[in-house]
Amino acid sequence: MSSTGKKLGVLLSGRGSNFLAIASSIRDGGVPGAEIAVVIANVPDAPGLQAARELGLTTALFESKGRKRAEHDADVAACLREHGVDLVILAGYMRLLSPEFVQAFPDRILNIHPSLLPAFTGLDAQQQAFDYGCKVAGCTVHFVDEHLDHGTIILQRTIPVLDADDGHSLAERILVEEHIAYSEAIARVLSGEYAIEGRRYVRVRLS
Ligand code: GRF
Repeated sequence: MSSTGKKLGVLLSGRGSNFLAIASSIRDGGVPGAEIAVVIANVPDAPGLQAARELGLTTALFESKGRKRAEHDADVAACLREHGVDLVILAGYMRLLSPEFVQAFPDRILNIHPSLLPAFTGLDAQQQAFDYGCKVAGCTVHFVDEHLDHGTIILQRTIPVLDADDGHSLAERILVEEHIAYSEAIARVLSGEYAIEGRRYVRVRLS
């Protein structure tokens, strides 16, 4: 994928701090060639949706509550296509994706997870790492496949777990790393300078 004029579609359900970090990074030239084409929420009062509106971005709301997954996902996919989205960015999107959705955007959906995968999938990953007694924690940006928190890893950032930490302080410090990691990963993917070998993402230089 060349990095000129690439459109991102952001999916979120909550506060949207990763989305805002990506938007800032794009504004500051940290993700060359990228623009946010649409921000889609599945929860009406998601603060991230309001923040996107305040930034003047195109937004859409597809409430997922009470809807069949495949039907809801079909609406979201249609919206992403309508806006010509090249890369789908899950930024705190608290909803499992249907296999149909994942297959509609092969190796074109990214997610960030607040642990060093494959450890601590699912909810409260930072607390899980803390409770386990890990001495190192961090975050992972990965391609999304049909399994939860499972696809090819693009990059990870680590921090030490401090004696003075609790689950909350650890989560806060991991979030700082998330905000750096996600834009970096998006830039790398948009550069097209990578290959996927089995489960491994490897950087290659385009000649
Ligand atoms: C982040 O911790 C992210 O890793 C996880 O959900 C959280 C979303 O936070 N997938 P925010 O909405 O981006 O602030």
